[in-house]
Amino acid sequence: MTIAIYPGSFDPPTNGHLDIIGRASRIFSKVIVSVLENQSKTPLFTVEERVLMLRRIAVPYSNVEVDSFHGLLVDYARQKNASVLVKGLRGMGDFEYEQQMALVNRKLEPQVETLFLMTNNNYSYLSSSIVKEIAAYGGDISGLVPMEVRDLLLQKIRVDGEKRQF
Ligand code: PNS
Repeated sequence: MTIAIYPGSFDPPTNGHLDIIGRASRIFSKVIVSVLENQSKTPLFTVEERVLMLRRIAVPYSNVEVDSFHGLLVDYARQKNASVLVKGLRGMGDFEYEQQMALVNRKLEPQVETLFLMTNNNYSYLSSSIVKEIAAYGGDISGLVPMEVRDLLLQKIRVDGEKRQF
């Protein structure tokens, strides 16, 4: 049984993330999608909200769990008995950063492998920040995020939007 972790900020989860979740769920016995509790960023959604959104969109995948973590990813992987870290790659920009992360993580924990999934090219331009920016300026985000996320994002932006910079 191979357990994989798909970590990220997911602020909010996009269709690009969902594509990776679905593909990883077909490869591994169990996939834990885990939201980083990152004190150094000011997210739009709380960790609890992001976990809830991910749980809703991951319903079709019975071997996918959603969780959150803090601290080093490799420590969390050990704690969950996971041997693989799944990362989505959109292009060379992601690759440079992710290569460094993969090498650091391997140095810290050689038993844990990083596996890159090339993003579906329909989503190669997509990021959580782009989605927030489009939504903040009233653009159409359908097709970029799952419906459940879209509704929550529009609601959040109505309440919060004027106070924030994306
Ligand atoms: O969606 P993101 O923000 O690109 O995800 C980044 C994430 C959560 C994968 C990365 O920041 C991470 O693994 N953070 C945990 C701390 C850690 O282990 N860092 C790597 C070694 S310094």
